[in-house]
Amino acid sequence: DWNMPDYVEEAIGRVRSEVGSDEVILGLSGGVDSSVVAALLHRAIGGQLTCVFVDNGLLRLNEAEQVMETFAKNLGVKVIHVDASAEFMKHLSGVTEPEQKRKIIGREFVEVFQRESARLPNAKWLAQGTIYPDVIESAGAKTKKAHAIKSHHNVGGLPETLHLKLLEPLRELFKDEVRELGLALGLPHDMVYRHPFPGPGLGVRILGEVKQEYTDLLRRADAIFIEELRAAGWYEKTSQAFAVFLPVKSVGVMGDGRTYDYVVALRAVQTQDFMTAHWAELPYTLLGKVSNRIINEIRGINRVVYDISGKPPATIEWE
Ligand code: XMP
Repeated sequence: DWNMPDYVEEAIGRVRSEVGSDEVILGLSGGVDSSVVAALLHRAIGGQLTCVFVDNGLLRLNEAEQVMETFAKNLGVKVIHVDASAEFMKHLSGVTEPEQKRKIIGREFVEVFQRESARLPNAKWLAQGTIYPDVIESAGAKTKKAHAIKSHHNVGGLPETLHLKLLEPLRELFKDEVRELGLALGLPHDMVYRHPFPGPGLGVRILGEVKQEYTDLLRRADAIFIEELRAAGWYEKTSQAFAVFLPVKSVGVMGDGRTYDYVVALRAVQTQDFMTAHWAELPYTLLGKVSNRIINEIRGINRVVYDISGKPPATIEWE
């Protein structure tokens, strides 16, 4: 019989006996899984844990600040905050092909992470937020057709190149159990019930070439969408919701003037397993409010459209 308080104590005990007095590194992304690992390890081994948070310049609005606030400031976790956005942006310059963008973002992440871990020469372990479905998925990856479609950004090669042992304290848990554990460890509800966010981040939500100007516009549009979804009680009724930046310009009017600006698409889906998904039937009033706010508040965007494509045949992300 599953009892969360007992499970927390058991998990803490297991981590302690596994790592002893060794130092542990964790790549903290701000997502649910790595956040729960951070909270668990902090409880279990405190100062023996150092987290590395890499800002690749493709994160959501205020993401870095929120992660630092929750973990470094409120919980007292050691977090190295690396702002590598200029480096990522430089390597993405001129690149338009989705898989190539994914590759570059993944490769840069490994490079930055390696550089940062070299500053922790005493570390013996690399902790990862692998959960049970990930374990099954990678075991069956070769037979799964869906996986050939997009190469998902992961850090599979890291422990070997870093000569670290792998610590995966969530590898027996399903997502809902990870969330329960997060709550039991005192993480905020909104953090534990966050929508998933892809590793390549806004890099695959800006069609074609990634530019600083586009990421700035998209971040703001996305934040407005999520804020209004939450306010309307729709955030938790959708599995994933986000804005996509379309680098095409269309004509609009504003006051006496004519505008010629970019388009943002809104995407919201409902799904059990992310292998198939239905577009969310959001209320028109909510869509209208989001559209008005984006167009009025963000100079540079004059048109908002809603994506009504299911998966299949469309994918959830646009790239
Ligand atoms: P698609 O677009 O394939 O997305 O329908 C299914 C789920 O996977 C996420 N996704 C990714 N996650 N790296 C990730 O970590 C990626 O490259 C990637 N591509 C898609 C997507 O956000 C959705 O939850």
